[in-house]
Amino acid sequence: MTKSPNLSRRDFVTGTIGLLGTIMGTVIGLPAIGYLLSPAFQSHQAEAWIPLGKIESFPEGVPTLVSFTRTKQNGWERTVNSFGVYVLRKGSQALVLSNLCTHLSCRVTWQTEANQYHCPCHDGGFDIQGQVTAGPPPRPLDNYETKVEEGTLSILLKEA
Ligand code: FES
Repeated sequence: MTKSPNLSRRDFVTGTIGLLGTIMGTVIGLPAIGYLLSPAFQSHQAEAWIPLGKIESFPEGVPTLVSFTRTKQNGWERTVNSFGVYVLRKGSQALVLSNLCTHLSCRVTWQTEANQYHCPCHDGGFDIQGQVTAGPPPRPLDNYETKVEEGTLSILLKEA
């Protein structure tokens, strides 16, 4: 028995249903795929002003530790990072230094009696301005851009 070169009704219906199914799948599926993948392409805001408190609440000339956390969304992953900074107030302005050692990122602490920031990991030392005074740190402590608005001290935090 030879097959007719003309399209049979059954083949036409099967082909039409297949085509409609493909179109419907594409119309429904593409937005769903876009919705599922969109968090992977979102970028986190790289920099933000972080308020630290009223400028007059910080003692004059004495480094004061301030801690805060930031939540970072990277795709589906959410991480909470903690930061520590030292505020050294001079009148209505302030020098704000990171508490991360510039050698291997251990946390430094201010030692009033020694008048220095001390890093316990390799005995690194920094003066009150953050300049290296001892040990292996290759550069001064990082400092932040600051602003004072309506009496509130803020720093510009740049996250990678
Ligand atoms: S990490 Fe601070 S001196 Fe090495």
